[in-house]
Amino acid sequence: MAAVKHFLDLHSFDAKTLRDILNLGLEIKSGKKSNANKLLAGKTLAMIFEKPSTRTRVSFEVGMIQLGGNAIMMGGKDSQLDRGETVADTARVLSRYVDAIMIRTDDPAKLTDLAEHAEVPVINGLTDSSHPCQLMADVMTYEEHRGPIAGKKVVWCGDGNNVAASFMHAAGRFGFHLSLALPAELPLDDEVLQWAKAEGVDFSITQDADEACSGADLVVTDTWVSMGDKDADKRHKLLSPFQVDERRMALAKKDALFMHCLPAHRDEEVTTNVIDGPQSVIWDEAENRLHAQKGILAWCLS
Ligand code: CP
Ligand code: NVA
Repeated sequence: MAAVKHFLDLHSFDAKTLRDILNLGLEIKSGKKSNANKLLAGKTLAMIFEKPSTRTRVSFEVGMIQLGGNAIMMGGKDSQLDRGETVADTARVLSRYVDAIMIRTDDPAKLTDLAEHAEVPVINGLTDSSHPCQLMADVMTYEEHRGPIAGKKVVWCGDGNNVAASFMHAAGRFGFHLSLALPAELPLDDEVLQWAKAEGVDFSITQDADEACSGADLVVTDTWVSMGDKDADKRHKLLSPFQVDERRMALAKKDALFMHCLPAHRDEEVTTNVIDGPQSVIWDEAENRLHAQKGILAWCLS
């Protein structure tokens, strides 16, 4: 029996597979893939959400429908998971009904547990540790606007959070330089750093956001308070020196882009003038969640 094709984290893939998945998404987006609307006919995706979502939830469901399949929403509180049924048992049962499972959860161990016990593909829709689907959309978006991302300077300004971790994985696999401007108190996960060092990823870390933004091809930020973070006041104090504003964008290259996975807090991590300004491609980025995930779904289920 062929191995189940999970989509758990970018660093578990080689660069070619990720590129193939992106290309599949682009082929479907361009209308060049024949019978794309029947690609997943008769297939069902279960979507487990233990945290809120707008983009991930809607783009996965719409993606399944547009490829001819269906999606079932399982809110965290609606299933027996919330009453203590194990992730392993849930995986075994869902595998008898559906063709793939997407999960958004706090604990990355739940994702790996689900994948270990499911007989169908499992897709990471965000954990506290990573957000790989977001990065597939981000790479797609950058390249649609500016061509290959390999060799470009990408700057992450803010919290060393789940999205930042996936940026590090993406830097390794798509070959861009990642400059992280982070407060010392909110670093990237040590496991991610060790992986990046071992893989020889081209990255740098500074507490000086101006230095990071200088000469950037792409500037990215994210909320200062992620879902589940309890220390909002402390985070605001630590992260306010990392705000992306027009002065900082002016340090980047003239044709630099701005991205944000959303949801955004205008005039906190990014000023209104930047997020709504000419360098911002956030709406294309949000749209590409749909197209990149069609590639992921089609790859997982092929
Ligand atoms: N960017 C992102 O994952 O958005 P949602 O939380 O709305 O799904
Ligand atoms: N870092 C954010 C990303 C939201 C898509 C969070 O985890 O809340």
